[in-house]
Amino acid sequence: MELKLPDEAATQRLGALLAQSLPDLQSAHLLLALQGELGTGKTTLARGLLRALGVKGPIRSPTFTLVEPYDTCAGTIHHLDLYRLEGAPGDLDALGYRDYRAMPGLVIVEWPERGGTALGLADLTIVIEHQLAGRNVRITNQTAAGKAWQGALRCKRI
Ligand SMILES: Nc1ncnc2c1ncn2[C@@H]1O[C@H](COP(=O)(O)OP(=O)(O)O)[C@@H](O)[C@H]1O
Ligand SMILES: [Mg+2]
Repeated sequence: MELKLPDEAATQRLGALLAQSLPDLQSAHLLLALQGELGTGKTTLARGLLRALGVKGPIRSPTFTLVEPYDTCAGTIHHLDLYRLEGAPGDLDALGYRDYRAMPGLVIVEWPERGGTALGLADLTIVIEHQLAGRNVRITNQTAAGKAWQGALRCKRI
């Protein structure tokens, strides 16, 4: 599935649509991978999703803290930015990754490729690319839960 996002508002809106089509988090363990170069809008997308789930106050980029936890009206969400990791074994464990993957909820990961194999398979992967104006986005699913999420997203966009 490919989309054009002409401006920042369109990226935020895609985040909100992802929130509205999110499977039930009370029983699911979802992983959303956000790929793309620096400044493509990964954090903007995560922010749009979190805002749409009722998160108030600042939503910081986890650039320095590496992980930011949120209690949302849909359930627990952890937002990670692995840019500073080098994919070494144990890096993710040091962040407590195993613990929040074990809880029901959603984990959103920027720079998933830096997490190494311990990250596990993403349910949904969103690749964002710079265009002359705006961004191009490619969405793929890797699991049954991701397929359901993407299917619901497609309906929202009609
Ligand atoms: N669709 C878009 N078109 C143009 N600019 C965008 C779009 N989406 C986000 N931006 C801008 O891109 C910049 C970087 O966004 P950010 O979310 O911090 O990127 P990343 O997390 O990928 O490094 C921000 O200034 C944001 O306003
Ligand atoms: Mg970012």
